[in-house]
Amino acid sequence: MTLVWVQTKVLVMTELAIEARGLVKRYGEVTAINGIDLSVPVGMIFALLGPNGAGKTTTISILTTLIQPTAGAARVAGHDVVRAADEVRRAIGVTFQDIAVDQDLSGREVLNIHGQLYRQSSSERRRRIGELVDLVQLNDAIDRRVRTYSGGMKRRLELARGLMTEPAILFLDEPTQGLDPQNRVGIWGYIRDLNRTRGLSLLLTTHYMDEAEALAGRVGIVDQGRVVADGQPEALVAALGADVIRVRGQGADFASVADFASVVAKLPFVERATTDAEGGVVMIYVDSGSRRLAEVLSVASGKSFQVDDVTVARPSLGDVFLHHTGHALRDA
Ligand SMILES: Nc1ncnc2c1ncn2[C@@H]1O[C@H](COP(=O)(O)OP(=O)(O)OP(=O)(O)O)[C@@H](O)[C@H]1O
Ligand SMILES: [Mg+2]
Repeated sequence: MTLVWVQTKVLVMTELAIEARGLVKRYGEVTAINGIDLSVPVGMIFALLGPNGAGKTTTISILTTLIQPTAGAARVAGHDVVRAADEVRRAIGVTFQDIAVDQDLSGREVLNIHGQLYRQSSSERRRRIGELVDLVQLNDAIDRRVRTYSGGMKRRLELARGLMTEPAILFLDEPTQGLDPQNRVGIWGYIRDLNRTRGLSLLLTTHYMDEAEALAGRVGIVDQGRVVADGQPEALVAALGADVIRVRGQGADFASVADFASVVAKLPFVERATTDAEGGVVMIYVDSGSRRLAEVLSVASGKSFQVDDVTVARPSLGDVFLHHTGHALRDA
């Protein structure tokens, strides 16, 4: 008995919900993704974080069998996405970035048609719709035309549609794009619940750092068709150093911001110092911001570097993105 238990446990721990190796997708001259590797263990929320055009939707489209890769391979729920596309489809749910449902249908009709596509019996569909309408709190609106829904209600309906077939793995492409803060936090709550109470594995894409930070057990940072960093959000941030001192200013006597950065980079307690794309701000990664601030400022005055503004903060995933790509997430 004990042996069987141990074996089951090991199997569960090493199982991957999603695994991709070297995924490439080209459209003629355009390379949409350029060698994406991913490993998402069963039961994890994984976020692909990246700017517009990074390749997030392309990656999701391959993993959900909507398009085929030009090169590379992926397995979802243990099935190859090209050779066993039907098995993959049976194991997953998807919600799309661009919601393309017939606006003249009611929410209930949208869910019902989806269940029919997957050959659910009418009693199964009825049961499932009842549960999901409660879950995403669309009880009052479910028989109204989708045309009359707000953006947040449409996202919630889309989430319910993705869950109709009780998938083990759910793909969410930009689940909160365009929503106000209150609606975003609501969707985050549903996503966390699905993961915690039903053990669903989730892969979501987002260009919001706070979303990745709030939800994901692991984040893959995507830029220009590649995963440039992958890890727990806290670990990615911690790898940058404990604190970041941001100094905005200008050099006198030909001393540039870059010169100032290279001088502070040599201080023993500074892990790294970089400038932003415009060259007006120096980010100085240190063991303790409050303790080291005075020393940094004294170097600045010694170098006739005029400081206009200074802040001390813990690094964020935005700093991680900047570190790995050389440009900021918001203006990438
Ligand atoms: N069908 C297509 N034909 C040609 N180019 C495409 C096609 N689909 C995507 N691309 C290109 O591939 C790149 C990645 O696009 P993708 O939609 O995957 O990015 P994304 O990360 O989802 O962006 P967003 O945050 O704007 O949704 C972009 O440069 C895009 O223009
Ligand atoms: Mg996209």
